[in-house]
Order: sequence, then C-alpha cells, then structure tokens
Amino acid sequence: MARGSMAAVLAVLAVAALRCAPAAAELPLVEHPAKNDGSLSLLVVGDWGRNGTYNQSRVAEQMGKVGERLDIDFVVSTGDNFYENGLTGVHDQQFEESFTNIYTAQSLQKPWYLVLGNHDYRGDALAQLDPVMRKLDERFVCMRSFLVNAEIVEFFFIDTTPFQLKYWTHPKDSHYDWRGVAPRKDYIANLLKVHTSNKDSHPC
Ligand SMILES: *[C@@H]1O[C@H](CO)[C@@H](O)[C@H](O)[C@H]1NC(C)=O
Ligand SMILES: *[C@@H]1O[C@H](CO)[C@@H](O)[C@H](O)[C@H]1NC(C)=O
Repeated sequence: MARGSMAAVLAVLAVAALRCAPAAAELPLVEHPAKNDGSLSLLVVGDWGRNGTYNQSRVAEQMGKVGERLDIDFVVSTGDNFYENGLTGVHDQQFEESFTNIYTAQSLQKPWYLVLGNHDYRGDALAQLDPVMRKLDERFVCMRSFLVNAEIVEFFFIDTTPFQLKYWTHPKDSHYDWRGVAPRKDYIANLLKVHTSNKDSHPC
C-alpha cells in the first residue's frame, strides 16, 4: 500500500444483520445480494491508477484470472484510484487509461465500490464522486462514505482521508480538494454521529 492511503474499509460480519435493519441508515446504502447459494466473493485493491505502468496492467491481468476462478460478485477499492493527483475533472482521459482500458477481463465487469484516497484529493475530488462517471463506465460506484449490504455481510466504506490532520496543516507541495468536506471537525463529528446514533438506536 502506498504511504498514506487512509481510506478504511470495515467489513462487519453480520450474523445479526440477517435479523436487524441495516445499520447506519444515514449513509447511502447499496444493496448487493449474495449469490443464490448464499456465498459471496470479491477482490479488494487499492493504490492502482498508473496508466498501466508500475505493473498495474500485470496485476489487472492476474485479478482477471483470480476473479474468474472465484466468480467474484464485485471489486472493492480502498482509494488512491488515480496517481499522482486524482482526476483533473470528469473528462480526464486517465479515467479510461487507468481504469476502463486496464480492467478489461470479463470477470472484472462487475460493480466496483470505491472510496477516495489521499492522492485522489490532490485533484478534482468531486469528479470521481460524480455519478456521471457511471455513464462513462457503469462499474464505477464511488462515494464519500457509504454502506454496501451484501446480505451475509455489511461493508462500511468510511472516507478517513480528511481525518489526517497533516494533510490540512502540512500539505507540502500538494493541494487538497476539500470541497464538501471542510471544515474538518464537522466532517469528523458528522461521521462519528452516524456511528453513535446507529449504535444507540440499533434494535438488536
Ligand atoms: C497512457 O497510456 C496510453 C497507451 O499506452 C498512452 O497513449 C497515453 O499517452 C498514456 N497517458 C499518460 C498520461 O501517460
Ligand atoms: C514490475 O514487476 C517486476 C517483477 O515482476 C519488477 O522487477 C519491476 O520492478 C516492477 N516495475 C515497477 C515499475 O514497479
């Protein structure tokens, strides 16, 4: 993992989830049912968008093979989707060059659930979050923080990049696109409130 890819993906094994209403109702919820036999299979990747270089294409090829063998249901990306500085906008060629044209294997033509990493904030952070990306490639489901309910498991996608104080106070040569996030303390408080309120109100 590249240093500082702080997006955290928490999977909560949800024996309880079968009986309880989904937690964290305030987060956008994606329903992705398990297979008919009750199983679920997925790949997780992070720190990847390099226009095929840094062996990205070779990893993509292996993902395609493993994805086929496992018959995966979806792919999770933990962030740093486009190096070095995210996308410049929704029309950035890098979207095709580092995503669509790289992950071409049949088995990878499944939804990709993505969060942003710190490098993604160094470009136009809103671009990747824009639903228009799904018109360019319908696999690309990227949101700030959200929940995927996969029936036998719930995945909490929590964007923790803004948690890192040093990105705000010591951005060095980078510019971080905090639109929709700043002020930092409100962002953190709101996310934690989601957790707390659901814990408190959880019926089980
Ligand atoms: C990405 O790779 C393609 C195909 O090899 C090339 O045409 C393009 O110029 C590259 N883009 C960048 C930004 O390096
Ligand atoms: C690509 O992988 C090979 C080994 O498979 C390694 O020797 C090489 O350094 C890698 N290239 C880059 C740019 O990381």
